[in-house]
Amino acid sequence: MAITTISKFLLPILLFIWVSPTVLSEKCSPHEKKILLQVKQEFGNPSMLSSWNASTDCCNWDGIECTNVKPYRVNQIELHGLDLPGPVKLPPSFFNLVDLEQLLIFEMPNLTGQIPPQISNLQKLIVLYLFSTNVSGPIPDSLAKIKTLTNINLAGNNLSGPLPPSLPTLPIIRVIFADQNSFSGPIPESYGSFASKDLITLTLSHNKLSGKIPASLKGLNAELLDLSWNKLEGDGSVLFGADKKTQEITLAGNSFSFDIGKVEFGMNITRLNLKHNRIYGQLPQGLTKLQHLTRLNVSYNQLCGPIPQGGRLQGYFPIDASSFANNKCLCGPPLPACK
Ligand SMILES: *[C@@H]1O[C@H](CO)[C@@H](O)[C@H](O)[C@H]1NC(C)=O
Ligand SMILES: *[C@@H]1O[C@H](CO)[C@@H](O)[C@H](O)[C@H]1NC(C)=O
Ligand SMILES: *[C@@H]1O[C@H](CO)[C@@H](O)[C@H](O)[C@H]1NC(C)=O
Ligand SMILES: *[C@@H]1O[C@H](CO)[C@@H](O)[C@H](O)[C@H]1NC(C)=O
Ligand SMILES: *[C@@H]1O[C@H](CO)[C@@H](O)[C@H](O)[C@H]1NC(C)=O
Ligand SMILES: *[C@@H]1O[C@H](CO)[C@@H](O)[C@H](O)[C@H]1NC(C)=O
Repeated sequence: MAITTISKFLLPILLFIWVSPTVLSEKCSPHEKKILLQVKQEFGNPSMLSSWNASTDCCNWDGIECTNVKPYRVNQIELHGLDLPGPVKLPPSFFNLVDLEQLLIFEMPNLTGQIPPQISNLQKLIVLYLFSTNVSGPIPDSLAKIKTLTNINLAGNNLSGPLPPSLPTLPIIRVIFADQNSFSGPIPESYGSFASKDLITLTLSHNKLSGKIPASLKGLNAELLDLSWNKLEGDGSVLFGADKKTQEITLAGNSFSFDIGKVEFGMNITRLNLKHNRIYGQLPQGLTKLQHLTRLNVSYNQLCGPIPQGGRLQGYFPIDASSFANNKCLCGPPLPACK
């Protein structure tokens, strides 16, 4: 009697343990598995997500990583080049995975739709990559509520509207790529006062930004700043300063108009690209002091007078006559002698 009772209750349990070891060792929380299967459905069940199978541990699915301590949670998603069957909206279910630290989605031309305000549900997000897709609409203001963000890459999408003035409130942001979209309007004044002292990169190139650059940008200090190929105007000299950590600065293809003679360059500059603007005046002697300069292009402006001699301005490949060409009246090596 006792034996039958034991076997009656225990046998199914033992059998269960024996046939489904995956269930017991599974890290994935059932709740998050459900969300991910919803994401897969919202993506249109691409064949590249065939490992996303309800009968296996989601922490082992392609592109998914979980925390390695209990309670195991999905903390990283990396999906790129998925074979989306046609235009598919950015899956809203992503924004229910509240323990995500890295959300990396890129190279999906069939990915459309907008970034929803609910992105701020992801209160642990550190890295957001959403680039080379066809996602459109504005950057939601709520993005600035994710105080943990250090890296944002939204380049090469179809995003539009104004740049959110709130972005510089992110306290530890280091890198923002927002180039190759359709952002319009002026650069907000707040971009001169980033809360983070660790800002390294800001790229806003190849957008439709316009208007005068605010004087407040005197306070913008990054190692890499790229504002090229917009419709920006005004006094771009505020972007420079002897005390700045600038290494690469690209203002090419705008309508900046200022006297370059009054500019003081930071000593760490390696690349200086000011071509195709309306910059005037005489090149300052300070340019010859830039010992790390590897690229220079000030062509297609309204510069005049003798090119300073020395430093890397003459005879340092690839800096050559084309770096200075098509100005009003620049002269002297590597251009023809002054008259
Ligand atoms: C999930 O995996 C099981 C066992 O490997 C397989 O029989 C089933 O067809 C899979 N389901 C899907 C939706 O791929
Ligand atoms: C995008 O969707 C179209 C159908 O609308 C399909 O022909 C094409 O292969 C898809 N491209 C990619 C890269 O998935
Ligand atoms: C992006 O979407 C637009 C329509 O909104 C479409 O014309 C274009 O081909 C798409 N781009 C890619 C790379 O699929
Ligand atoms: C962006 O979207 C617009 C319409 O919404 C479309 O005309 C355009 O082709 C898209 N651009 C790219 C690069 O996909
Ligand atoms: C320039 O670079 C050096 C060496 O990397 C660094 O120590 C210094 O702080 C930089 N200067 C500025 C103004 O950031
Ligand atoms: C400078 O820019 C002009 C115009 O885009 C280009 O033709 C030239 O090759 C560039 N020169 C260098 C050295 O970058």
